[in-house]
Amino acid sequence: MKGISVVFFLFLLISNGTSQAQVIFQCASPDAQIGLLLYENDGTPLWEATYKGQTLILPSGIGFILKDSINLTTGLEIINPVHTSFEETWQAVWGPNKFIRNHFNELRCHFVHNKTKITFVMVFRVFNDGIGFRYEFPEQNVLKDFIITDEKTQFHMAGDYTAWWIPADFDSYEKLYKNTLVTKAEHVNTPVTMRTENGIHLSIHEAALLDYSEMTLKKNSTSPLVWEAELVPWADGTKVIATTPFKTPWRTIQISPDAVGLVSSNLIINLNDPCLIEDVSWIRPLKYIGIWWGMHIGTHTWTEGERHGATTENAIRYIDFAADNNIQGVVIEGWNQGWDRWGSRGAFDHVTPASDYNLVKVADYARQLGVYLIMHHETGGDAEGYELLMDSAYILCRNLGIHALKTGYAGGIYPRGEHHHGQYMVRHYQKVVETAAKYQLMLNVHEPIKPTGLYRTWPNMMTREGVRGMEWNAWSDGNPPSHTVTLPFTRMLAGPLDYTPAIFDVLIENTTTERIPWNFNIDDISKTRIHTTLMHQVALFFILYSPMQMASDNIENYEEHPVFEAIRLAPADWDESVVLNGAIGEYITIARRSNNEWWISCATNEEARTLIIHTDFLKGTKAYKTRLYQDRSDAHYNTNPLVFEIKDTMVSGGDTLQIFLAPGGGAVIRVYE
Ligand code: NOJ
Ligand code: CA
Repeated sequence: MKGISVVFFLFLLISNGTSQAQVIFQCASPDAQIGLLLYENDGTPLWEATYKGQTLILPSGIGFILKDSINLTTGLEIINPVHTSFEETWQAVWGPNKFIRNHFNELRCHFVHNKTKITFVMVFRVFNDGIGFRYEFPEQNVLKDFIITDEKTQFHMAGDYTAWWIPADFDSYEKLYKNTLVTKAEHVNTPVTMRTENGIHLSIHEAALLDYSEMTLKKNSTSPLVWEAELVPWADGTKVIATTPFKTPWRTIQISPDAVGLVSSNLIINLNDPCLIEDVSWIRPLKYIGIWWGMHIGTHTWTEGERHGATTENAIRYIDFAADNNIQGVVIEGWNQGWDRWGSRGAFDHVTPASDYNLVKVADYARQLGVYLIMHHETGGDAEGYELLMDSAYILCRNLGIHALKTGYAGGIYPRGEHHHGQYMVRHYQKVVETAAKYQLMLNVHEPIKPTGLYRTWPNMMTREGVRGMEWNAWSDGNPPSHTVTLPFTRMLAGPLDYTPAIFDVLIENTTTERIPWNFNIDDISKTRIHTTLMHQVALFFILYSPMQMASDNIENYEEHPVFEAIRLAPADWDESVVLNGAIGEYITIARRSNNEWWISCATNEEARTLIIHTDFLKGTKAYKTRLYQDRSDAHYNTNPLVFEIKDTMVSGGDTLQIFLAPGGGAVIRVYE
């Protein structure tokens, strides 16, 4: 229901020294717990965020600097505030939840710049789980094509909150999270998640990042509690090229009384437009395996030769295993020509197979067995070259009946000087999404732009990396156990991730050929391993939501393994997800439902713990069967990672379970009829 509600405004004072009487427009969340206040101080607008009457973000600046030093942060007249409300429940094509409630109050304010008469609109939406705001530049005589040299949106923290963040990098999110006070976080990527002294959790990110450059947050040089938008530049230093009418992405602040509330938030996806793909029947969430890990651990190669992974024979073996084990997809990397030129302009040929790989035979075989062959296009960062080949490569997929594609941008961007996260690449990634939709291809993007909820509009944009994923365990010091229990509260707030979990051979000892290093991240590749227990790996398959979820180990490590049953039986998508407990970087428990079956998954950091799980989400008193897969009592991620137990019991709604997790461990419980 959309309707105009009463516009109200107040006259209040804010005590920032120089201030005089301020006009304040105010907008509250539907449950009245979250407040957005807009101040106007002598032509300079400021915004503030509150939760239950407590200021979380102090009055903070807004606006832009345009080319020719046009300063749109001050000299502004605010006119026409309009309040509206909106409420709907929409059905997702896929996702952790099938039905999503979208309920907010909106405040739209027009700003007129006194000097130039440029007009822009600020739209604030206040939900029960946070705030989003964006800028809109309507069509106008005084502004057509324009260049943003700086966005001046500020976030002034009301306290020195505890923050979880990765350092800003205009080309990569593949980093471990740091946990410091806000004052110690100079320049960060989003989502950046924080906890106030009294336990309120908030996270800053953006939604609907389209035709703009990514926002990183950089510390104000004089005020260590103020982060300012720092947009990723084009090669020539320009931040954004725009033409009116023009809308920026939403700046988002997810707010919750606790950590689990953040994980359940739908704010980012709700700020995106509804689905634009009419026929979505070809979009199908899937579990997948692939010819992949062998290359990362150095026993196989992407390039042709004796150790080539992507042979026809190997591909058929993987497809057979998938068909036999309720795995819907197989990705095969190194199937094409060009890997020996990785890094150079125009290196990859996405149409011509390697000489020992019969693409047509493999694609036909997969189709006959009902397995989705996932095409792989590594671009090495050559976006410019990829745009030239894209159509012919996608036509080949169509001709072979292929509906899924993994892309990659591992390398510096061509054209040189552009960044993975700048406007050039945001445009490129979106062009790929839209072209892929035209050819009915689902996407899994590596080295991507971060997710901002666009999958609501383009549900063929299934999953992406944008995380320090499993591969780092193969060729670097790896990821500590705390990493994977930090991700649900940070990176995952933005959207699904292709972490590629479920390595069973966590010590990487089941290899018959020598491991030969292929990149420069570690001196001795033979020392690398996964830094969790086996059961933590299984739990990640359920915790780290991805509508294309990879069981990433070599299939030899799954064959005959009793715990693989959990992955074989796992649903490929969910109707409902409930986050039961969690603390950032420490532990998490999520229950997910598909039809009448629930899967509960828990994981912990370096600490052993016993988690108490209340099964109130199982409605009624009916008794369900359960199968529990967990760490054995003497398991330890460092010294004894492989030992596990499988136990069968019964459970009813309202029961309490106590689940032991070893240091670096995890557990999965199947609850079924
Ligand atoms: C990096 C990707 O993240 C990884 O999954 C892939 O195997 C390599 N690039 C090669 O394309
Ligand atoms: Ca990567």
